[in-house]
Amino acid sequence: MQLLRWILVLVFVVVVTAGEDYYKILGISRDATEKQIKSAYRQLSKKYHPDKNPGNDDAAKKFVELAEAYEVLYDKTKREIYDKYGEEGLKQQAAGGHGGGHPGNDPYDLFSRFFGGQGHFRGTRRGPNMESKVEVSLSDLYKGNTFEFTVPVQGICDSCGGTGSEDNEKRQCSACGGRGVKTVRRQLGPGMYQTMQMPCDKCSGQGHVFTHLCKACKGAKVMRETRTHQITVEPGTPKGMRVVFENEADESPDWEAGDLYVEVDEKRGENQGFRRREADLFRVEPLSAKEALFGGWKRDIEFLDGSNVTISRKAGESIQHHEKQIVRGKGMPRFRESGKHGDLIIDFIVIMPGSGSRAKHLKDEL
Ligand SMILES: *[C@@H]1O[C@H](CO)[C@@H](O)[C@H](O)[C@H]1NC(C)=O
Ligand SMILES: [Zn+2]
Ligand SMILES: [Zn+2]
Repeated sequence: MQLLRWILVLVFVVVVTAGEDYYKILGISRDATEKQIKSAYRQLSKKYHPDKNPGNDDAAKKFVELAEAYEVLYDKTKREIYDKYGEEGLKQQAAGGHGGGHPGNDPYDLFSRFFGGQGHFRGTRRGPNMESKVEVSLSDLYKGNTFEFTVPVQGICDSCGGTGSEDNEKRQCSACGGRGVKTVRRQLGPGMYQTMQMPCDKCSGQGHVFTHLCKACKGAKVMRETRTHQITVEPGTPKGMRVVFENEADESPDWEAGDLYVEVDEKRGENQGFRRREADLFRVEPLSAKEALFGGWKRDIEFLDGSNVTISRKAGESIQHHEKQIVRGKGMPRFRESGKHGDLIIDFIVIMPGSGSRAKHLKDEL
């Protein structure tokens, strides 16, 4: 009896999760912002696009699910209904309202709204790549962290999906009479003419123009936008490392977007007095003449991970100007070599009485 009840509970749970929560499909929380929804769809739809996963049925299924989830969650009204009544609520609303039917449109159509082309990656011309830079404090390069950053970029117009038209209503182009070409006569010399056929510039050779231009982009098909990305900086990421964000460069209906290359750089002036050279760290530590001569001191240096590196000398232990101390293993993590670190090299400088300005100068150099 007890066992039967457990089985029933299990079956119930399975059925409920099989309903595939839209938030889960997009990997976002229930209070995700519009930006987060959009960004999640962008990333995942690219990843699971059938062109990138040939012959993979699971990816194709996921691609369709992503489009469905996005269509609902990005629409304020649909999202509200979904939050309150679930998928069932949406079906009822669709049945009661005009049009009816399934919430999802053609997933390829939705995809092309984001990336241009005809919803496919292949067979299209490729747009230019782009470069960007993220500056990170030395402490974050030490510990590793995830950052959000934004890039200004040209994106396919959301309102018209890159057609440039308000309603897709067309009329014949009056400049070329619908032929898409015009004949140009050029004088080459006295009495010599050449006639050439050129694509019509009014309709770009299409033979027709849109009756109503898209109000959002004024027919341009694309718009400037600020796009947010996430980058994960691993511990010990080398200076100048480039991370590729595929197809995240400028978009256009005429091409497949190029890649965005993001360079990870150390933020100047945020190094807590440490200088990095590959996996080693360097530091200048000033000592008073008294400390250098007689010893008997202890100092806590705040390290990049928030801990302290303690250095000290017993009474009677003297230190020379520019004497070095190597603290093994207190350098940067070696990139992708789990647990391995470089060293910390401390350069002691002895401040003689009256040489205050020189010490300040040295500190400023850090
Ligand atoms: C580091 O040293 C400073 C100064 O001695 C001390 O105030 C601080 O609590 C120490 N921090 C840690 C994490 O031990
Ligand atoms: Zn538009
Ligand atoms: Zn024309």
